[in-house]
Amino acid sequence: MSPIETWGQTGGDQRERGGQQPEFPGRRSFITVLIAVGTAVVGATLAIPLVRFAIYPVLAQTSKTSWSSLGPFGGLQPLQAPQRRTVKVTSVDGWLKSASSKVVYVTKGSRKGAIRGVEVLSAICPHLGCEVAWNGAEGKFFCPCHGSVFAPDGAHISGPAPRGMDTLPVKILDGDLLVRYEYFRELVPYKEVMG
Ligand code: FES
Repeated sequence: MSPIETWGQTGGDQRERGGQQPEFPGRRSFITVLIAVGTAVVGATLAIPLVRFAIYPVLAQTSKTSWSSLGPFGGLQPLQAPQRRTVKVTSVDGWLKSASSKVVYVTKGSRKGAIRGVEVLSAICPHLGCEVAWNGAEGKFFCPCHGSVFAPDGAHISGPAPRGMDTLPVKILDGDLLVRYEYFRELVPYKEVMG
C-alpha cells in the first residue's frame, strides 16, 4: 500500500464520519480524569466545613458551668447538719443552651476538693439520677426512687447506688463559698465528670 493510497483512505474515513475531526482516546481519558480529580478536590473542600458543622456537638465538650455563690463561708458555720442550697446552672448541649436550678448540700467532709472541712454534694443520685433528700430525723440522705441511703458526708450506706454522693468543686472568694456544678456518669462505681 503506497503512501498516496493511505492518505486517500484516511480522507475517505474522515468523510464517512461526516467531516468530524478524529478523536484521540488518550487525550479524552486525560480530560475525564482531570475533571474527576477537580470535582473531587472541590467537593472535599466544600465538605470539610459541612462535616465539622454536623459533628460539632459530638466533638465539642459540654461547656463548663460557671461558679455560683452559696453565701458567706462564715455564715455556714457551725455546720451541724447538711444544708440544702439551690444553684442556677447554665448548660450547653450542642447548640442548645438552657438554664436550670440544681440542689446541692453543703456538708462536713474531708475528701479531695474539700475546703476547710467543708464539701458540697450534688443531690443527684449516682444510681439513676433522682434527687436525694436529707432526712434530719434519721440523720441520713435518702433517695426516693430505689431506696439508696447515704451518710451525712455523702458516703454510700445501702441501696443500689454504685457509689457515694458526688462532691462538687468549691472555692472561697472574698469570703463567699463558691461551687461549680457538674454532672456525673450514673451507674458506675467511680466518679466521672460528664460536663
Ligand atoms: S435513683 Fe437513687 S436509688 Fe435509684
